[in-house]
Amino acid sequence: MAATDVPQANIGVVGLAVMGSNLARNLASREGNTVAIFNRTKAKTDELVAEHPEAGFIATESYEEFASRLSTPRTTIIMVQAGKGTDAVIDELTKVFEPGDIIVDGGNANFRDTMAREKRISETGIHFVGTGISGGEEGALHGPSIMPGGSDESWETLGPIFRSIAALAPDGEPCVTHVGHDGAGHFVKMVHNGIEYADMQLIAEAYDLIRQGTGKSPAEIADIFDEWNTGDLESYLIEITAQVLRQVDAETGKPLVDVILDQAGAKGTGAWTVQNALDLGVPVSGIAEAVFARSLSSKPGQREVAQKTLPGPTAEWTIESPDEFVEDVRLALYASKVIAYSQGFDEIIAGAEEFGWDIDKGDIAKIWRAGCIIRARFLNRITDAYAENPDLTSLVTAPFFVDVVTAAQGSWRRVVSMAAHAGVPAPAFSSSLAYYDGLRAPRLPAALIQGQRDFFGAHTYKRVDKDGIFHTLWSGDRSEIETEGSGH
Ligand code: ATR
Repeated sequence: MAATDVPQANIGVVGLAVMGSNLARNLASREGNTVAIFNRTKAKTDELVAEHPEAGFIATESYEEFASRLSTPRTTIIMVQAGKGTDAVIDELTKVFEPGDIIVDGGNANFRDTMAREKRISETGIHFVGTGISGGEEGALHGPSIMPGGSDESWETLGPIFRSIAALAPDGEPCVTHVGHDGAGHFVKMVHNGIEYADMQLIAEAYDLIRQGTGKSPAEIADIFDEWNTGDLESYLIEITAQVLRQVDAETGKPLVDVILDQAGAKGTGAWTVQNALDLGVPVSGIAEAVFARSLSSKPGQREVAQKTLPGPTAEWTIESPDEFVEDVRLALYASKVIAYSQGFDEIIAGAEEFGWDIDKGDIAKIWRAGCIIRARFLNRITDAYAENPDLTSLVTAPFFVDVVTAAQGSWRRVVSMAAHAGVPAPAFSSSLAYYDGLRAPRLPAALIQGQRDFFGAHTYKRVDKDGIFHTLWSGDRSEIETEGSGH
């Protein structure tokens, strides 16, 4: 099928909007790659070719031509609108591709859709590889963090290509690994986004507490974030937070953050993380609070009424030492962030178990060290923690993180209680601390809940002192209460 007298490409990109065209340019800039491109609307293809002659793109005008310009196994990345767009392109490509060829979906697909597509497409002998790509447009152009799923066979072809375009971690390692089969890549990308939501919410709460507690200006708080970015909290999100806080609105001369409407948007991957965590029974409470905080912010009608009717605390909030308070907030942020990652990795572990993926947790932390939005210094510590103990039951119980929370817990408790006293919402800080205390509690009131369940629904309970399943006859004279052991 492939013409031999015309130049062939080793990789193709379908979908040339911002992400697709940047990824295509990134691919073309790497030694050994020739990139074929196709877009439904031809104008976008023409524009990209005209603006970037250096890329040496092979521009094509139909799916047939696109397929004919790819060397085998034909390997193509589709970067189109998730959902209908993805299915439409897949339908066309499967008509012109052959068994052994590879279709990579680099969009933000729901991993369940990816699993269904993989199942359907693999019947044709074509490999379908759902791949999470993080880093936004800049990442796509200069080096993203790449999370591919799919078959081992497709990874043999894709590995070198992905390694050539991925971001490089500080130790020079490309930020890509074969995450696991079928939907594993999109699953891990989803959790990445959930952790990103939590990280952003925690940073926002830290800013709000400092601003309300100390009266510092956004520019002064930007300096604090810059300072934090030289230590344990060093990360892309802390770095850009300082820049956002320092930005002045050209029109009004006010800090831009004061001019931006305080209603946070979302594209849904945070909600997916929480929905799937609920299905898997994994408490990702920090991530959930971050998603809900955005929802709450985006209810202006409710907020307006509540603002006028619901009273706040009457006592004045006084901070004696602003410097000490800022340090408390830093440590509370660090500890809460450890919880967000710990919960996120719990979801990855549960997902891997549920869907049969062999996911190396340490490798996941490694490929998040550069290119992606949650890149941070402390990801190395997560890799170390899983290298030391691959069966770690909970990330926060790894020795390094135990030291972090031990040093931080006093500050963490002070900040959460101060926020409650002051009436400043700190849902992610508070829920992370509640999770931490729940996890380490020797005895939980879950025992009472089991009693209640048995009372109203005969749901039975287990006992601490013997095996078996028990039910109590709750009504009547207490002396008649009876317990039955099923005795296994
Ligand atoms: P962005 O990268 O800007 O977020 P997107 O909305 O995710 O973009 O995806 C837009 C891309 O999906 C475009 O390349 C679009 O093609 P057109 O330029 O022709 O609009 C592509 N796309 C969307 N639906 C498609 C479909 N049904 N078939 C083929 N391509 C489609």
